[in-house]
Amino acid sequence: MDHLLVRAARGERTERPPVWLMRQAGRHIPEYRDLREEYSFLEAIKTPEVAAEITLLPWEYYRPDGVVMFSDILTVLEPLGFSYHIESGVGPVVDDPVTGPDDVDRSHGDVTRELDYVGELLVRLNRRVGDETAVIGFAGGPFTLASYAVAGGPSRTNMPLRRLRAQHPEAFRTLLESFTAVVKEYLQFQIGNGADVVQLFDTYAGTLTPEDYREFVLPLHQEIFDALDAPTIVFVRRMNGRLDLLQESGADAVGLDWTVDIGEAREQLGDTPVQGNLDPSYLFADPEFVREKTREIIDKAGPEGHILNLGHGVNKNTPVESVRAFVETAKEIQR
Ligand code: CP3
Repeated sequence: MDHLLVRAARGERTERPPVWLMRQAGRHIPEYRDLREEYSFLEAIKTPEVAAEITLLPWEYYRPDGVVMFSDILTVLEPLGFSYHIESGVGPVVDDPVTGPDDVDRSHGDVTRELDYVGELLVRLNRRVGDETAVIGFAGGPFTLASYAVAGGPSRTNMPLRRLRAQHPEAFRTLLESFTAVVKEYLQFQIGNGADVVQLFDTYAGTLTPEDYREFVLPLHQEIFDALDAPTIVFVRRMNGRLDLLQESGADAVGLDWTVDIGEAREQLGDTPVQGNLDPSYLFADPEFVREKTREIIDKAGPEGHILNLGHGVNKNTPVESVRAFVETAKEIQR
């Protein structure tokens, strides 16, 4: 039988909502912090054995319905000729960002060879988790990847990339298209190596105007989802009030951040499956509060086509007991 997560992503009624958490394998888990003493972030994601061990930490703690491969959206920068590293206290830093509008037409190297460690990781995960748990792959969306490639690092407002759109729209388009080509190939590769579900994280694309989003980003999302032969989820932050732009992407399920009322999203989106959307900060409250708020989300979302998740990633220092309360609340539902 298909995974619970896959069935919900297809819009089926499920006996309980499947549950997983974005960034579930990160710094809130003590064993992760220990492993990071031994390996740098890039060493960890490029060593399938270590990446598999990290991926499975939250599975051992909580038994979520999906394990999300331990990796990063920025891995595809390398086949496009960029190099990057993670700087503690800053975040990801791109060593050789785009130098200007003449530096955007990037052909890419052999994705499956350069990212072979991700294929190996997925194969390992499939051997480990068995039939009940879905293996979740992912990639960054073109806008979010381009944001790092242009700004050279985290940029809260994405001003450098939005400025490129304003001053050199054709260069902006070409850069997003370069990323789209890689992302498409990369997600196909993940599905070919055993990802049961894939999520596109175009986290920052919501900083564009609705018109720009529709003109530049939506067709690329459509091109990506069109090319994929497995259940898909799209996630973009700050899309409250324009969820139709996510629905039109062609993804099977629409990810919701916590600023969206999931009941209203349901009314707006009809039969389209939804994922989300507990505020990650709620996990710092006591487990009883977490249970109460999680039940509210499950009730509002209803029994069909809902994947329970947070509205964004787990924060570091999040208490393990609250994450456990979140997962257990979903698992206790019977309908
Ligand atoms: O649960 C999982 O294991 C998922 C794996 C995952 C990571 N990053 C691991 C990671 C996923 C799906 C991502 C996606 C990602 N990475 C996004 C899009 C989604 C989102 O959450 O917004 C973005 C924008 C990135 C870029 C990136 N890489 C950021 C912002 C950071 C955090 C930097 C920091 O110091 O806070 C990273 C590094 C990173 N990726 C870490 C993890 C666990 C932290 C590494 C560490 O310091 O231990």
